[in-house]
Amino acid sequence: MNNKENLLKDLNVYLANLNVLNIKLHNYHWNVKGPGFFQLHEQFEVLYNQAFSELDEVAERILALGSHPASSMKEYLELATLKERASEAINSLDSINEVKKDFQVMKDHALSLIEASENAKDPVTADMFTGFAANYEKALWMLNAYLG
Ligand SMILES: [Fe+2]
Repeated sequence: MNNKENLLKDLNVYLANLNVLNIKLHNYHWNVKGPGFFQLHEQFEVLYNQAFSELDEVAERILALGSHPASSMKEYLELATLKERASEAINSLDSINEVKKDFQVMKDHALSLIEASENAKDPVTADMFTGFAANYEKALWMLNAYLG
């Protein structure tokens, strides 16, 4: 595989991870219980809306590069490195720690995609993922600040 093919393959893995992240953030939004419920319930909605807009940007970038984005749940579950969580209650502290773990995975993946984009001589995709990495860094700072 050449550098562009490698990039396109990994963009689809990232897209799959975003779809799993979107569902997981809904899971936390619905199932969180305990102190801070009202703030966390709202914040997880802000975060799943961000993930949702990010996944459209990534899919359309794959199309702009002349390829096809994975577009089915079956493919997303096969491709994703992020694991789903069970449909069950989660306490507020655990929910924050789980989101932190997921966001660390997404941030590291975004950083590796900057490198893959540079290897494929694609500064536009590199720039897109620089923005995504910055968003995850900011969200991680805020989640840590909330924990005190
Ligand atoms: Fe809701």
